[in-house]
Amino acid sequence: MPKNIKHSWAEPYKMKMVELLKMTTPAQRKRALQEAGYNTFLLRSEDVYIDLLTDSGTSAMSDRQWAGMMLGDEAYAGSRNFYNLEKTVKEVYGYKYLVPTHQGRGAENILSKILIKKGDIIPGNMYFTTTRLHQELSGGKFEDIIIDEAHDPDNEFPFKGNVDLNKLEKLIKKYGAKKIPYVSIATSVNMAGGQPISMKNLKELRALTKKHGIRIIHDMTRVAENAYFIQQKEKGYESKPVKEIVKEICSLTDGATMSAKKDALVNIGGFLAVNDWDVFEEARNLVVVYEGLHTYGGLAGRDMEAMAIGIHESISDDHIRARVGQVIYLGNQMMNYGVPIVHPIGGHGIFVDAKKFLPHIPQDHFPAQTLAAEVYQDSGVRTMERGIVSAGRKPNGENYHPKLELARFTIPRRVYTQAHMDVIAESAARVYERRKQIKGLKMVYEPRYLRFFQARFEKLK
Ligand code: F0G
Repeated sequence: MPKNIKHSWAEPYKMKMVELLKMTTPAQRKRALQEAGYNTFLLRSEDVYIDLLTDSGTSAMSDRQWAGMMLGDEAYAGSRNFYNLEKTVKEVYGYKYLVPTHQGRGAENILSKILIKKGDIIPGNMYFTTTRLHQELSGGKFEDIIIDEAHDPDNEFPFKGNVDLNKLEKLIKKYGAKKIPYVSIATSVNMAGGQPISMKNLKELRALTKKHGIRIIHDMTRVAENAYFIQQKEKGYESKPVKEIVKEICSLTDGATMSAKKDALVNIGGFLAVNDWDVFEEARNLVVVYEGLHTYGGLAGRDMEAMAIGIHESISDDHIRARVGQVIYLGNQMMNYGVPIVHPIGGHGIFVDAKKFLPHIPQDHFPAQTLAAEVYQDSGVRTMERGIVSAGRKPNGENYHPKLELARFTIPRRVYTQAHMDVIAESAARVYERRKQIKGLKMVYEPRYLRFFQARFEKLK
């Protein structure tokens, strides 16, 4: 074999069962889009060929996880599967106390209610939709402290999830450490394009927050993907297994919210994990109000068992190399066709730069929303908006105008093939070819919370 041929990212699994997909015609897709108000969230999944709406809850479980489902102990209290999950979280992530929740936002709700008081400031490395909303509903205000590079889709900096420590110091000076209950740190920053934070930056952040007695709460939804980038790109980590890097990341933080629907390879589930007994005690109490008893938190016993197994599978080097390898493969295909995407390629999807793709459409006419609709019309590939619609409105009612206006092509884990990736890239390329004829949208219905899920649009003439 020639020396310069790289080892493939080929999958460390094979297929045992398949799910048949429906193919649609352009006329059927046109009708489906009209019925959905040009919002890909409102399409019926049956009308979708390749579903890149999200990587959340859409992964394929392994035969072992399915076998685990049969071991569900559905007792109301003290299920065996809870104890398996608790042991796994302690062993793999190192957090001391676990409260299961039905998914990530369940954990965000409980955590925000416990730690945030009215008037508090919560600095974070870019907002996430549900996370920020829970902070605001608890009376807090989110402040973005991610490095400026993260807002520039062309900047190639390898750790665009990093915190700008100067921005944080300024906030501490302005408001005082007492007004900052915690710093909210996501690994693999979703809204920036799945961009990782470096260990070095996290260590510096730990030192600074320690000095001021401020907690770090870790949104660990995609921690394994972040750890993989550290292994690939950060000096000193080349030969460390992802598993060790994951544990080191967690050890630099005080607690975490987890949507297990991503990294942890389950269709439903999440948790809150903390090291602080007082916070745990309060969380264990509150979960009873919002989710369910503290040994199931809104989940069936079988879900907790699948999650415990999925967590172990998620930190295997072979798994994560194939997972991110597939995403990078798609990104490279798109770049070959000249489609403008966010650089560097992130962990969970390709984020197409709609401002560059459709420069003639102003942000108030929703270029990324338009792009997602056009790609669906072209091929039945469903993507989603991550721009002005997702950003929503400030508490004072004004629209946020995020710098990043992106259409996200999110790749579910262990679901699609390399040939599917080719179909996706070809579709993006075809839409790119006719980009000049594409017109924007106007919003005709706007729900109050997280509007991107349910808003409706009409085509501009
Ligand atoms: N944090 C991050 C970084 C997320 O990406 C998500 C969900 C959540 C928290 C909330 O978790 O959905 O289980 O309640 N992201 C999905 C997405 C919805 O499509 O990016 P959840």
